Amino acid sequence: MTLTVVRTREELGAALEGTRSRRGRVALVPTMGALHAGHAALIGHARGAVRPGDAVVVSIFLNPLQFGPGEDLDRYPRTFEADLELCAEHGADLVFAPAVEEVYPGGDPQVGVDPGPLGSVLEGASRPGHYRGVLTVVAKLFGLVRPDVAVFGEKDYQQLVLVRRMSADLCLGVEVLGADTVREPGGLALSSRNAYLSHTDREAALALPRALRAGAAAGGDGGDAVLAVAHAVLAGEPAVQLDYLALTSPELTDAPAQGEARLLVAARVGTTRLIDNLAVRLSAAVVGGDVVGATG
Ligand code: PAJ
Repeated sequence: MTLTVVRTREELGAALEGTRSRRGRVALVPTMGALHAGHAALIGHARGAVRPGDAVVVSIFLNPLQFGPGEDLDRYPRTFEADLELCAEHGADLVFAPAVEEVYPGGDPQVGVDPGPLGSVLEGASRPGHYRGVLTVVAKLFGLVRPDVAVFGEKDYQQLVLVRRMSADLCLGVEVLGADTVREPGGLALSSRNAYLSHTDREAALALPRALRAGAAAGGDGGDAVLAVAHAVLAGEPAVQLDYLALTSPELTDAPAQGEARLLVAARVGTTRLIDNLAVRLSAAVVGGDVVGATG
């Protein structure tokens, strides 16, 4: 199937009319462009979540609302022609690439989505207003595309959790699917922002996935051990300026003593802010014969 590119709400509606009249399903992959193999995997995931005649839509929109003052909106990489090629190659049917005025015709919207308490921890603590901007644009994209399914990467774990909550809490009716983080062979999570890293930054940035892997491997010794091991790895790389390292439940609440947890990290390397995370399985630590952090 050939790729269709649309810019306006009307063109989008017209392009999806056929699918809708056939009662076909629509899968959406929201992106900000500068697409890489991580985005490609999401498109593949979306393709696999619907049937052959259904529509896979990729939105490419650099959303100003989610960038704070002094953040990288102005220097964010723009690679539109290559993005279209990647979309076509990985089975997208439609690219929705609206101008800012198309999405925000009256300027910044008066009404936005309040992310709730999870919007002001971790990334939200470092980037005030970020998740309000993210959820507001995702809600708008859901309203414009009206997808049955939307795919988000675990790379931005807090975003995935918040979008899932938004769809459930506001009854938006969109099934939100998560997709594994795609990494470079050395372990660095692919990110459009990796383009800012110098060669030496890139070497230093490898400490992030290394710390997460080492932390996850210590899960059998309990949560404190996970954090201690991961901190030790990060401390060994002076070029990494740690913002946070946190161990939480999969829903981003307090980590359980045992069972599934999530280890999340954010750090600045050179001028670039990087985030990454990994699933951790915790067992209770045994200290001097006593099981610590477990009841019963
Ligand atoms: P963007 O950073 O372009 O990411 C688009 C999607 O790709 C997100 O769901 C993100 O988690 C996923 N992604 C990025 N790198 C990945 C990797 N290495 N492996 C797997 N998935 C990866 O996230 C946004 O845009 C915006 O906030 C958006 C949701 C589009 C709202 O503006």
